[in-house]
Amino acid sequence: MSKENKDYSKYFDFSGAKVLSEDEHGKRIRINGREINILSEPNHRQEKQRGKQSVEVLYDTELTEEFRSIGAGKHYIVYTYGCQMNEHDSETIKGLLEQMGYRATEDRKQADIILLNTCAIRENAEDKVFGELGHLKHLKTEKPDMLLGVCGCMSQEESVVNRILQKHGFVDLIFGTHNVHRLPHLIQEALFSKEMVVEVWSKEGDIVENLPKKREGLRGWVNIMYGCDKFCTYCIVPYTRGKERSRRPEDVIAEVRELARQGYKEITLLGQNVNAYGKDFEDIQYRFGDLMDDIHKIDIPRVRFTTSHPRDFDDHLIEVLAKGGNLVEHIHLPVQSGSSQVLKKMSRKYTRESYLELAHKIKKAIPNVAFTTDIIVGFPGETDEQFEETLSLVREVGYDSAYTFIYSPREGTPAAVMEDNVPMEVKSERLQRLNAAINEYSRKSNDRLLGSTVEVLVEGVSKNNDAMLSGRTRTNKLVHFEGSTDLVGSFVNVRITDTKTWYIKGNMIQDAVTASDAV
Ligand code: SAH
Ligand code: SF4
Ligand code: F3S
Repeated sequence: MSKENKDYSKYFDFSGAKVLSEDEHGKRIRINGREINILSEPNHRQEKQRGKQSVEVLYDTELTEEFRSIGAGKHYIVYTYGCQMNEHDSETIKGLLEQMGYRATEDRKQADIILLNTCAIRENAEDKVFGELGHLKHLKTEKPDMLLGVCGCMSQEESVVNRILQKHGFVDLIFGTHNVHRLPHLIQEALFSKEMVVEVWSKEGDIVENLPKKREGLRGWVNIMYGCDKFCTYCIVPYTRGKERSRRPEDVIAEVRELARQGYKEITLLGQNVNAYGKDFEDIQYRFGDLMDDIHKIDIPRVRFTTSHPRDFDDHLIEVLAKGGNLVEHIHLPVQSGSSQVLKKMSRKYTRESYLELAHKIKKAIPNVAFTTDIIVGFPGETDEQFEETLSLVREVGYDSAYTFIYSPREGTPAAVMEDNVPMEVKSERLQRLNAAINEYSRKSNDRLLGSTVEVLVEGVSKNNDAMLSGRTRTNKLVHFEGSTDLVGSFVNVRITDTKTWYIKGNMIQDAVTASDAV
């Protein structure tokens, strides 16, 4: 633990906290009768730093024998909030728990360990987690031996850890996004000591390879990079996930090959800014376009990626994506706002014009591309005119769908101290108008498919109707059609007969689709 990390003052200036012991491994304290072992804690100042030290890649992560029977005969539940990165982290967490002998359950009463893998992106994401902790408190009273842990992005926030220590003393374990691989040790420590164990690293971040992953379904996620250096002024991710660091190409490619060998039909390459991939390599010139070109040659039917940042979308990448094949025609390209002035205040480092130019360039190279996006309304000081610019950009690009959000101030980010003079009613009304525009274009893009034949990867039985199957097109559109459950996991051709805003319907047909019809 570094020196800076040992400033405990801000946590313990409330009455009732007593320091029991302190040494180089951390500090033991008592709050409201609960003993807490703080191995390390989040530190916002350190999370902000971006030094020049090289990224360390850890390969030797084999679990030793002493941990492999801790969970024998016991059960776990992991609840996941937030983005796909978090979903994928949960796959690693589940993989580690299974290596320790734990088995999955859905029954809370049967669980010996429950972990909440949390998201800090907006206030309502955090409210959900605190609400859930309230429910779990009762279970913990009935089953005091059950371990309850909080991990993920919220654990990286000083204020959250502080609040748990003070008000949710029934939690047994808090760990962060940088030390998931330490889970077996932390469980052992919590079980042995019966104290709350807190270990959150505030480093810029290393890369840990070879961790087990419990993947579910037909679609595999593959991290290609971690962290974010963009520091958009509203966003907490650069603080919770550390600096941008790319996995070595040979490690990514070996993982993709292995998934292909295991029969996965689709993979999604993950990163907060996948197209910043490789910018941090000091010894090789190898960027996201090069990686996509290499993955293009691997025999896996569909390759997606998320999220790409408009700023790092270079011509080579467009050229490679235009080759098609397993590289699908769907690009999630978050715009956030259609106003150059707002984009500047957000520190997105592109303008309305340069975004539109990029979108047109991509469309020219990949004519049947589907764009999706993320948009924030009600950023501090956003005027009616600036919001209208967002609406007009939505119309100009014609997104197939979008995630839309009302701006939520995040403590410690630059935007949180900007003057926010837009009333909540105005923000809500803007969100409604934006959603109406997005829905109109979603519907239009679906309508264009009427009568055409699409290639669908069958994912399962439709959620609302047992007689129907559902799956996704290459452009990620949801398709419902009648068919036998034997088809789950395979590709079929569906002729579109009916369209709605959120999905399309059709009939399965036997004749093959050609690559050029496939949308
Ligand atoms: N790395 C991705 C986005 C990750 S967060 C990117 O840069 O595109 C997913 C989305 O959450 C963001 O695109 C943004 O639209 C939204 N978001 C992030 N911080 C937010 C905040 N403080 N309030 C509201 N929405 C936010
Ligand atoms: Fe957040 Fe911006 Fe980084 Fe995306 S690019 S994770 S929005 S700081
Ligand atoms: Fe949320 Fe962290 Fe993802 S804040 S959106 S879980 S990177």
